[in-house]
Amino acid sequence: MNQAAENPIGIFDSGLGGISVVRAVMDLLPHERLIYFGDTARVPYGSKSNETVRRFSRQIVNFLLDHDVKMVVVACNTASAIALDDLRGRWDLPILGVIEPGATAAVNKSPSQRVGVIGTTSTIHSGAYERALLARNPDLQIQSKECPLLVPLVEEGWPEDDVLNGVLTRYLSGFKQFPVESLILGCTHYPYLKDAIQRVVGADVNLIDSGEETARVVQEILAGKKLMHVPETHDGDRKHHFYVSDFPQRFQETAARFLGRPLENLFRVELEVLESYSVG
Ligand code: DGL
Repeated sequence: MNQAAENPIGIFDSGLGGISVVRAVMDLLPHERLIYFGDTARVPYGSKSNETVRRFSRQIVNFLLDHDVKMVVVACNTASAIALDDLRGRWDLPILGVIEPGATAAVNKSPSQRVGVIGTTSTIHSGAYERALLARNPDLQIQSKECPLLVPLVEEGWPEDDVLNGVLTRYLSGFKQFPVESLILGCTHYPYLKDAIQRVVGADVNLIDSGEETARVVQEILAGKKLMHVPETHDGDRKHHFYVSDFPQRFQETAARFLGRPLENLFRVELEVLESYSVG
């Protein structure tokens, strides 16, 4: 038996939005144990400088390694766009971001080669989705749009509100002039708005949930490296663990809404402790 296969998968995000990726991995790989880190004290990453996002990401990966993870999933689109190369250059365990899987799915689902991307300001300005898409198909036509108000609206829990519909209509109006076949939901929070986004862009647009696509690639990587946990009768206590850097107001409500049930095995990591995991 490969001993490392028993170890958990580490998943991190700037806050709780990455729970959308946790859910996708739990659905596809129910026997895997997950360690989640949500940087709730320092969210949002979407408006921070690149160097700050890289520094925070390094601390979190180092923390996850201290918990013996067998691979790391960067659930945050912003951290994937900005910090992934830096992380991969420092550690040699598999580190997967959400951008490459999302780009692959969009290319596969866009035979007429017109793809849209929405994300935070940092993700869109980084050009990471464009680079990943064009590396897969240089003939693609791509339209990107930053949608910074959507994260706070999801956190407020207004998924069917008139305000949300107005904001979406304004942000997504460009996709009326430039119709796309696929639209990448390039932010952890956007899958929670799938229905509202679909109504605005029309039923014939494929919405690409980067989190779901990432879960499929996690499965491929684990299988390829023989790191998949094989369930056994004496498996015992293989609970998921959730770590956060703060318990903000209305934390329980938001966390339960994102996970679809209360978060169990939840621990707070003080910022000073997290900062002690600084690297480089
Ligand atoms: N998790 C971030 C992302 O996917 C959204 C929230 C933030 O700005 O930190 O880009």
